[in-house]
Parts: sequence; structure tokens; C-alpha cells
Amino acid sequence: MTKTLSIDTSSTDTHPEGNSRPVTSSQSDVHPGLAALLQRYRDAVFNKPVADFNQLAFDRASEYLCAHGGPLILDSGCGVGDSTRVIARNYPDHLVLGLDRSEDRLSRQRQPPLPDNAHLIRTDLVDFWRLAAAAEWKPEHHFLLYPNPYPKPQQLQRRFHGHPVFPHFVTLGGTIHCRSNWLIYLKELASALALYGVDSQITPVPNEPAMTPFEQKYRNSGQAVWQLLSAPPPDPGDAR
Ligand SMILES: C[S@@+](CC[C@H](N)C(=O)[O-])C[C@H]1O[C@@H](n2cnc3c(N)ncnc32)[C@H](O)[C@@H]1O
Repeated sequence: MTKTLSIDTSSTDTHPEGNSRPVTSSQSDVHPGLAALLQRYRDAVFNKPVADFNQLAFDRASEYLCAHGGPLILDSGCGVGDSTRVIARNYPDHLVLGLDRSEDRLSRQRQPPLPDNAHLIRTDLVDFWRLAAAAEWKPEHHFLLYPNPYPKPQQLQRRFHGHPVFPHFVTLGGTIHCRSNWLIYLKELASALALYGVDSQITPVPNEPAMTPFEQKYRNSGQAVWQLLSAPPPDPGDAR
């Protein structure tokens, strides 16, 4: 059954105080049902209709991509878009699309303004990723920073790697950068990627300025934060 991924409506992004509690869960490791769930998704077709607003969002994103003509980076679940700005500055030759379904977060007008190679788009990733994978988009990097953890074991299907959209996320490819304050989330993502032959590594987030308000909030609260980095896709030349 397809589950809806719900929105976290806290105002953390504008007030990243240090009062955040670590994630607690009765899960002490990777969910034992994850592999079977992913096998089911591999053998099934996920054909939930695409909502009109997501189709429009994708069409607009396609126009940006066409007009830019260069390599692409996705910042999925970008929240207020601070990470989109940082990434766009670090990769000035890339088009960087920050995607989030919260109009409230996207419209917060954070300063300084986004550089010209970045855009924020309101969309639900469950539809957007499917459209992008079907259109054979190949982002060079795919950022997924502090996704909602949904830590109860029965919420597994709300986590992106436990959702039927996951095969489409994998098809998009690129180097995956995922960060979380819940190590088990990243271990699960790593094992889900491994089922698709994608290697990844989990390490502490480097001690640099925070990329996002959630990262800042977790740091201010003294919590550890980790990042998963997938191995770059194989160079087609290596097969020769
Ligand atoms: C915990 S917040 C992290 C935001 C930001 N990356 C940060 O670190 O500050 C998770 C974000 O994912 C977005 N989100 C969750 N599910 C989504 C979905 N299915 N489609 C689009 N955005 C989604 C939420 O709206 C929220 O902004």
C-alpha cells in the first residue's frame, strides 16, 4: 500500500535553537522487513496518478534544465533552500533545483538571494522523481538532507527507502548525499542501495558550517550527525 509522506511543520528552519531531542525508536538496527519490501517494489509497477501540480512543477523544471543546458544537481526536501544556495555556489556551472512540497518553507525569502543557477520548486518528490526518472534525467549529484526519519518501525514505508518510489530514486542515479541525525536511517538507505548494486559509505558530517537549518539545530543540541555518500556511478569508459 502506498503511504503519503507527511510534512514536518515545525518552525525549526527559522529558529534552529539547541533544544532538539535525539531520535528515539524501538528499532535498534536496520528494519528486518526492509529487504522483502524492496523486493516487492522491484517486482511491482508503481502507477499512482501524477498530481497536476507536480506535472506542472516538472514541466517548469524541464524548462530550466533546457535553458541551462549544463549538468544538474537535485536538492530533494530542501526546506527553506539554504542548502540549495550553498550547493549552487559550490557548483557554479551546474543547475541546482531545490525541491520541497512545503509552500510555507519555500516562500520564506531567506537571504542572501539564490544565485542564478538555482531554483526552488514546490513539488511532491513521489511524483517528481518518477517523472524525472521516466524522462531519463541524470543528475550528477542528488542531495537528500535530513529527511523526516519516521522512526517507529510501523512507519518504515514512510521513509524514502521504504516507499514504492525508491526504485525511481535509484534510477535517477548520481552521487547521493544524504544526511541524518538518526544513524539507522542511513544504514537502512545504505542497505537499500546495496540491493541495487550501489555502494555507499557513512561518516560523520564534516565539521564545517551547517548546510541546513536542521543540521544547525542538531549541532546546537549536541547531537551527532552523519552523512551517507554513494560511490560515484561507474565511468562508462571503464567497461572497455
Ligand atoms: C526535516 S525537513 C529538512 C529540511 C532541510 N533539508 C533541512 O535540513 O533543513 C524535511 C523536508 O522534507 C520535505 N518533504 C518531506 N516529504 C516530502 C515529499 N514527499 N515531497 C517533497 N518534500 C517533502 C518537508 O516539507 C521538509 O521541508
